[in-house]
Amino acid sequence: MSSNRKNQNTGTSAIWGGRFAAGPSAVMEEINTSINFDKRLYAQDIRGSKAHCKMLVSRGIIPRDDGEAILRGLDQVLQEINDGRFEFKSVQEDIHMNVESRLAEIVGEAAGRLHTARSRNDQVATDLRLWVRDSIDGLDDALQGLQRVLIGHAESHAGTVMPGFTHLQAAQPVTLGHHLLAWTEMLGRDRGRLADCRRRLNESPLGAAALAGTSFPTDRHMTAKALGFDAPMANSLDAVSDRDFALEFLSAGSVLAVHLSRMAGEIVLWCTDQFAFLRLSDSFSTGSSIMPQKRNPDAAELVRAKAGRVLGSLNTLMVVMKGLPLAYGKDMQEDKEPVFDAADSLELCIAAMTGMLAEAEFNTGKMRTALEQGFVTATDLADWLVRVLGLPFRHAHHVTGALVKTAEDRGCGLESLSLQDMQSVEPGITDDVYSVLGIDESVCSRTSYGGTAPDNVRRAAIEARQRFLED
Ligand code: ARG
Repeated sequence: MSSNRKNQNTGTSAIWGGRFAAGPSAVMEEINTSINFDKRLYAQDIRGSKAHCKMLVSRGIIPRDDGEAILRGLDQVLQEINDGRFEFKSVQEDIHMNVESRLAEIVGEAAGRLHTARSRNDQVATDLRLWVRDSIDGLDDALQGLQRVLIGHAESHAGTVMPGFTHLQAAQPVTLGHHLLAWTEMLGRDRGRLADCRRRLNESPLGAAALAGTSFPTDRHMTAKALGFDAPMANSLDAVSDRDFALEFLSAGSVLAVHLSRMAGEIVLWCTDQFAFLRLSDSFSTGSSIMPQKRNPDAAELVRAKAGRVLGSLNTLMVVMKGLPLAYGKDMQEDKEPVFDAADSLELCIAAMTGMLAEAEFNTGKMRTALEQGFVTATDLADWLVRVLGLPFRHAHHVTGALVKTAEDRGCGLESLSLQDMQSVEPGITDDVYSVLGIDESVCSRTSYGGTAPDNVRRAAIEARQRFLED
């Protein structure tokens, strides 16, 4: 909170202050201003203004000379902001008025013509759509980079065995490659969700003006095209008042954040001494200030946690929008911070996961040893009883349970039970049963579509390359 809040600010806004005798109080200014965060829209704002200006000139709505001065002025403003020479002022409220008032300083009177046939309402809706669209494109590239790392490891580890878990108990042997391709698929759907959101958001609000459209002979198709939108939005009230595109972005982002959090959660587990499946590089590990032996996976823990922020952002905007009457309400100024925060968090999380995994070393020996406990080929044994002896699966399940109990009593694995022990439970069992009790035999047998057999995984990695990395 600013310390000079009590001071009355008597300067009225040069942009909308015509009917006001006094300027806003300091508190009013503080709650009203958004420049501290919406300055991030400057490039999109200037892009939108340039497109609008060219359209006004081409439709004869403003003189060509003025249009040219405005375009030159806008380029200068852009340059000043890019160079860090621009002074953002909170008295100018937001990015739109900051740009426009600087434009007026640069080009004089002509600047006042830029706002013909538009309003900050369609302007801000346009800016934020453009910003979210850029953000989606950046996230898509980053996710593709993460998938590239995962697919690379999956190829190297198509035949590396590890326990697959249910209830976090060793369940059946799988391959590491298969596990990494599961993550790859999750991220693929995240990219799909973001792409869906992008497709739907790609319509232009610009020219809807305050809410009702305009009496000037504008060409909204022209500005839509110039800004890379597929079309102008069909309804001016809707154009200025909905933020469903931001909600969709945050929804897709939330699912993505949950996925990243689950992956990160596994990395944290895999880095424990108990699992020791994974060793992060020095550059992605942190030490403890008191316990010298520690190598902590802080980045993974933070990725695991940041889902909270992203889901919080979705929740924030959902609640902001709920119950809002059409059309624009200043409430909607609260849309930006959650969108920016979620986008920043996601970008950082993806970068951290990519960096961590690119440099991580998998401890394949540990993964294999972890398979020695837990009778992970019990399902293979039950399947053998069904396939070879023709037992109904439920019966085979029961027999296998008894064999697991015997092995437990003997303190050995299923593969080390004698044939005699086996036959005392089910007399029909023959020597052939041992052919399915090995770990490698188990994974190699899982050849059903989408299964974990190394040959499947190799094929799946090639297909994943085609589906996700070639475009
Ligand atoms: N800063 C505002 C926002 O983010 C821009 C639109 C202001 N419109 C208005 N009618 N006051 O929503």
